[in-house]
Amino acid sequence: MQEKIQWHTLDTADQVAEAVCQRILAAAEEAISEHGSFKLVLAGGSTPEKVYRLLSKADADWGKWFIYYGDERCLSEEHKDRNSVMATRVFLAQVAIPESQIFTMPAEFGPKLAAEFYQQIVADALPFDMVLLGMGEDGHTASLFPGHQHNLDELTHAVYNSPKPPAERVSLSAKALSNTQQLIFIITGAGKKEAVLQWRSGQDLPVATIKPTAPIDIYMDKDAEPG
Ligand code: 6PG
Repeated sequence: MQEKIQWHTLDTADQVAEAVCQRILAAAEEAISEHGSFKLVLAGGSTPEKVYRLLSKADADWGKWFIYYGDERCLSEEHKDRNSVMATRVFLAQVAIPESQIFTMPAEFGPKLAAEFYQQIVADALPFDMVLLGMGEDGHTASLFPGHQHNLDELTHAVYNSPKPPAERVSLSAKALSNTQQLIFIITGAGKKEAVLQWRSGQDLPVATIKPTAPIDIYMDKDAEPG
C-alpha cells in the first residue's frame, strides 16, 4: 500500500527548520494532553541542527518530553561526530528535559551490544509520538543503507560497513521507525535532489521502507526539489 506522503517544499532551509520546529511543538502539546508525555525520536546528521537550535529557544513542557535517537555512530561518547553530541550541544543541554528521559544510544560499546541494549528501550517506548528522519544522497535514512540486509522483525540493527563513515553504527529498524503517530522527513540541499526523484519514481530506497499508518510529512527546501 502506497502510504500517504505529503510533500512540503519551502523556499529556504531556514523556513523548513521553522516549519518543522512548529510541527514538533504542536505534536508535543497534543501528545502531552492525550497521554501525559511526548516521545520524540531525533534525526541524526547535520540537517536537523537548525531545528534543534530553534527548539532550544522554545517554551515547552520539557518535563514531559522523552528523547530517543534514530541512529548513532559507533564513536566515543564525546566524539564531535556523534549525533548525541550535536543534539546535546545545540538543544538538550539548553532545555529542562530530565536526564533520565534522554535515551542516548550506547554506541561506544559497538554495534552489537548497543543494538541489544537499545532494543529494550525502544520496546518499552513504542509507539513513538513523532519520529524525525533525514535522508542521505543515496536514499538512506537513519543508518538503513541501500543493499544492507537486516532481520526486519528487529527493533534495532547493528550496522557494519556503512558507506557513510563511520563504518559501524546502530540504527532503529524500519519497523521501529514506522511505529509512530507522526513522521517527518527533513531534506535540504541540492545533493538530495536525485534521491528525491528516485523516491518519487517508486524506487525501493531505504526511505521508502518507512511505512507508518499515519501520513508521512516531508519538509524540503527548493534546492532539494527535482526539476
Ligand atoms: C547519520 C544520519 C543519517 C543522516 C543522513 C543525512 O547518522 O548519518 O542519521 O541518516 O540523516 O545521512 O545527513 P545530513 O543531514 O548531514 O545530510
